[in-house]
Amino acid sequence: MQRIYFDNAATTNLDAEVLDAMMPYLTEKYGNPSSIYSYGRETKMAIENARKSVARILGCKPGEIFFTSGGTESSNTAINAAITDLGCTNIISSALEHHATLHTVENLAAAGKVTLQLVKLDENGHIDLAHMEELLAQAPGKTLITLMHANNEVGNLLKIKAVSELAEKYGAIFHTDMVQTIGHYPVNLSNLNVHFASSAGHKFHGPKGVGILYVNENITIKPMICGGAQERNMRAGTENLYGIVGYAKALELATERYEQDSAYIGELKQYMMTRLRENFDNIGFNGDAAGSSLYTVLNVAFPKTEKSDMLLFNLDMAGICVSGGSACSSGANSVSHVIKAIYNGKSENIVPIRFSFSRHNTKEEVDIVIEKLKELV
Ligand SMILES: Cc1ncc(COP(=O)(O)O)c(C=O)c1O
Repeated sequence: MQRIYFDNAATTNLDAEVLDAMMPYLTEKYGNPSSIYSYGRETKMAIENARKSVARILGCKPGEIFFTSGGTESSNTAINAAITDLGCTNIISSALEHHATLHTVENLAAAGKVTLQLVKLDENGHIDLAHMEELLAQAPGKTLITLMHANNEVGNLLKIKAVSELAEKYGAIFHTDMVQTIGHYPVNLSNLNVHFASSAGHKFHGPKGVGILYVNENITIKPMICGGAQERNMRAGTENLYGIVGYAKALELATERYEQDSAYIGELKQYMMTRLRENFDNIGFNGDAAGSSLYTVLNVAFPKTEKSDMLLFNLDMAGICVSGGSACSSGANSVSHVIKAIYNGKSENIVPIRFSFSRHNTKEEVDIVIEKLKELV
């Protein structure tokens, strides 16, 4: 059976060129980067070149880039460091955050280490900036703002510049989860005025299990993992050499291809929206699909019926890979925390399905999916 993969917000396939760049470091270049002889020097050099390349693309300094195991580790590290090392006692976040953020801030609040405030959302699921300013103005202590640049389930984009200006005005620390935007949009971290940013390579055709944490040079945090001197004493442990090389290569390719890929994928999303509207009169789009939204993600609200309740399962049976929420909750029948938050808890009449695209998808695939949906809904 031919499969259709419309779940690129969960993960993407590894680019062949990225694999080519990684291969030497899985085979003949196997030296430990901490070793001082030639095997070690060549792998150390590969890591530092990767860091320079990533920093150049993201508009920051190599010293501000730390390689990690991915988005989850980066967000956990940033949030915990803001509390432990930077003196934050209050957190402003939102109900739409990825669990990597949400569970971390909830745990800190449950342990009594911080007060936690969730900022209100507007009718499209965007952050209510006026409410955020109110929260900042009355904050009970030094505040960490942790808000995602783009939501992985519905695609909503944050007004990141406005948030960073508010953070600056009120002396808050700002962490942003850029897992769905780095590698998909041009990003200039030195203009953004954020303190921490998280990213993961597997969202833009890089390898899994590798990401970065950007830490602004004006702040100092303690080591994320203690042990050896890797990552300039900040994250001990022998480096994920081939992962790091792959991350940098994937980011280089994504940057080169940005104009072409974003236009192509954006058109696919538009095409799918048009075809859905033509064929179903009772569907909606979750989040701000036609407005300030990722060009890669389309979250559709199908009306809940006995048939549509089985939609995720039946699409899978037909070889169509999509998700009902985030990857972690796909397969499960429960509506995700993001959809619940957007609907103010009143989402019992819809079946949300997320379609997310990459440059490998085609309009023909969209047509096939539409035909299948006509049978299944
Ligand atoms: C927005 C967002 N944040 C964080 C993560 C976690 O990233 P990782 O799986 O690399 O830890 C993901 C991916 O699932 C994501 O989409």
